[in-house]
Amino acid sequence: FTSMNFSKLLIDWYQLNKRALPWRKTTNPYAVWLSEIILQQTRIDQGLSYYEKFIETFPTVFDLAKADEETVLKLWQGLGYYSRARNLHHTAKFVVEHFNGTFPDNYKELKKLKGIGDYTASAIASICYDEPQAVVDGNVFRVLSRVFGIETPINTTQAAKEFKTLAQSLLDQTNPGEFNQALMEFGATQCKPQKPLCSGCIFKDHCIAFNTGKVTLLPIKTSK
Ligand code: ADE
Repeated sequence: FTSMNFSKLLIDWYQLNKRALPWRKTTNPYAVWLSEIILQQTRIDQGLSYYEKFIETFPTVFDLAKADEETVLKLWQGLGYYSRARNLHHTAKFVVEHFNGTFPDNYKELKKLKGIGDYTASAIASICYDEPQAVVDGNVFRVLSRVFGIETPINTTQAAKEFKTLAQSLLDQTNPGEFNQALMEFGATQCKPQKPLCSGCIFKDHCIAFNTGKVTLLPIKTSK
C-alpha cells in the first residue's frame, strides 16, 4: 500500500494510543537527546525513572556538563552499557564548550557528536526540528520486516541500508517526529516480539507476515 496510507493509519493510531511520557511534552533537544540515549537498549518502563532522575538532577546541559563523571555514572547505575553515560557527559561538556550550550539543529551536525549515531541524530532532528529523517531501531526493524515481509537478516549492513531507505520512503514529511515516535511506539506495544496483537492490528489487511503466517518468524537474525 502507499506511504500515505501507511502513515495515516499509523499516526491516527498513535494519536489515540500514545502513552503520556515526559519527553513527549517537549521539543527541547537536550531533553530529547537525554531520553533517546537512555532508551537505547532500555525499555520505556525501565528508562522512565532514570530519565526523571537525570532531568531533575541536571535540568540543563550546563548542569550535566559541570557534574563530576562519578556523579553521572552513579545516577546511571543499573542501566548498563556505561559508555552511553560517559559519552553523554562528554557531549554535554562539548556542547557547552563549543556551542555555548546550544545543540546543533540538524541531522548532519548532530551526528558528529560523540554517542550520537544515525538513530539518535534522526530522532532529535525529526522530533525537535521537523527534519525528515527516519529512525530505525529494533521496533522499526520488527514492524517493517513483518508488514512488508522483508527477510533480509536485520543484523547486517545491507539491512541497515534497506530499512532506512524503506522507513525514509514511508516517513510523513510534514510530521516526521510524530511518525517516528508512532512507529517505535507501535512496535513496542502492538507489534511485539512475542505475542504480537495481530487480531486488532491496523495493518492486518496489508501485513505480509500476518497473511502468510510468518509473524513470529520475522524479523530474521543470523549469526553472520
Ligand atoms: N523508544 C525510544 N525512543 C522512543 C520514542 N521517542 N518514542 C517511542 N519509543 C521510543
